[in-house]
Amino acid sequence: MFRPHWPIKIESMVLFNQASIPKFKVCTILLCILLVDCQILESTSQSLPLLPDILNFLDQRLALVFSIIQTFKNTITSDPLGVTTTWVGPNICNYTGFYCDNPPDNLTAITVASIDFNGFQLSAPSLDGFIDQLPDLALFHANSNNFSGTISPKIAGLKYLYELDLSNNLLSGAFPTSILNMPTLSFLDIRYNLFTGSVPPQIFMQPLDALFLNNNNFMLTLPNNLGDTSALYLTLANNKFTGLIPRSIGKASSTLKEVLLLNNLLTGCLPYEIGFLNQAILFDAGNNLLTGPLPCSFGCLEKVEVLNLARNLLYGQVPEVVCALGNLANLSLSYNYFTKVGPLCKKLIMSGVLDVRKNCILGLPDQRSVQECTTFFSIPRTCMNLSSFNIIPCKIIPRRGKTPVRTESPRHLLSYSALSRNNRVL
Ligand SMILES: *[C@@H]1O[C@H](CO)[C@@H](O)[C@H](O)[C@H]1NC(C)=O
Ligand SMILES: *[C@@H]1O[C@H](CO)[C@@H](O)[C@H](O)[C@H]1NC(C)=O
Ligand SMILES: *[C@@H]1O[C@H](CO)[C@@H](O)[C@H](O)[C@H]1NC(C)=O
Ligand SMILES: *[C@@H]1O[C@H](CO)[C@@H](O)[C@H](O)[C@H]1NC(C)=O
Ligand SMILES: *[C@@H]1O[C@H](CO)[C@@H](O)[C@H](O)[C@H]1NC(C)=O
Repeated sequence: MFRPHWPIKIESMVLFNQASIPKFKVCTILLCILLVDCQILESTSQSLPLLPDILNFLDQRLALVFSIIQTFKNTITSDPLGVTTTWVGPNICNYTGFYCDNPPDNLTAITVASIDFNGFQLSAPSLDGFIDQLPDLALFHANSNNFSGTISPKIAGLKYLYELDLSNNLLSGAFPTSILNMPTLSFLDIRYNLFTGSVPPQIFMQPLDALFLNNNNFMLTLPNNLGDTSALYLTLANNKFTGLIPRSIGKASSTLKEVLLLNNLLTGCLPYEIGFLNQAILFDAGNNLLTGPLPCSFGCLEKVEVLNLARNLLYGQVPEVVCALGNLANLSLSYNYFTKVGPLCKKLIMSGVLDVRKNCILGLPDQRSVQECTTFFSIPRTCMNLSSFNIIPCKIIPRRGKTPVRTESPRHLLSYSALSRNNRVL
């Protein structure tokens, strides 16, 4: 049988009695005496079924998770904001961070449906035995806490979970493969943790809308099936991924809006298939080891507003079709080895949209030294399938008259906010 331990019952009585204090100030002392009496009474009669008298739960489902929450509370080693002081008594729906709702399988029942610990700064050695034991949980947001350990495989038993935000914690170990068995999950945010190892290909088969994996220690190559993802937002930045950008990325053309690959160790040439991403508004693969020319197919990224490939080893001409993109607000190609820009690109430089500082372009200010450029080009470089770099896989509508250059600064982009530790993306 369910029976909470002793101190909790007392806390709930205190909570109950607090309400009556302002009205009956005179009775305060009396109540205290009563409480003390109760303590003595109860501590001497452990076998009595005290729960129904003292803890009145709104619903059986809340009674069932009460001890789970209290057990977790006891594992918390730091609570600088004091949120857990509200985690007392039977009114779980009033605990700070907990939200109740009717579960899908019984619309008259009341259950813990959502938890929002964003910014609470709680420290606990593990979330095991907590979130995985709240069977009706649909949302768990815990940005900026100090939760450690790994994610329990039991989390796969949460049949309603669709948002899991564990960002900016101290979680470690391999990619939590239990998450791969959760068909309801649509939002997964585990950025800013200490996860390591490779990312399993199955995560790209999951029907996710958003996948934030940035700022971990993920390594090895990106799975070849990356383009199977249904995500609109994909952030893999600030890890240690190596190898090629998978050519399959083009398969995500009807969904992918924002892609962050910056600050990894990606090598090889840019796949021509990136140009298929006609929903993309942001593509950032800056600060990698990418080489080769910029494919002309990028001229098909008709919605792109921010395109960052700065700090790579790219060379050749900046294709005019790319500079003709009508929605570009920031085209960053600085710190590469480009050698040529045409008139459209020059216009973008003038308007501040295109940054080609520190390249090898004759006649432009702030370029690399002749020595640096010579050294770079003394090593023979090539890409597989070079002919694909000239293909433009879309119909370019020729612009007449002036190029409509956007002068406003780029609008707020969701995945860039994921690059800040404390930002809640949702
Ligand atoms: C929850 O707290 C609010 C205000 O803090 C109060 O009005 C309400 O009665 C409480 N609900 C329960 C079930 O205790
Ligand atoms: C639905 O929940 C209510 C409230 O907890 C309960 O009384 C009822 O028995 C439940 N119905 C079913 C079909 O489980
Ligand atoms: C959380 O962990 C970080 C890094 O270990 C530490 O600097 C910080 O003080 C911790 N915060 C709390 C509230 O324990
Ligand atoms: C353009 O993008 C680069 C690279 O991400 C960034 O450093 C720069 O601040 C951006 N410029 C503007 C005006 O937003
Ligand atoms: C070369 O590129 C074309 C498209 O331009 C593609 O159809 C073909 O599969 C590519 N071949 C290799 C070996 O990458």
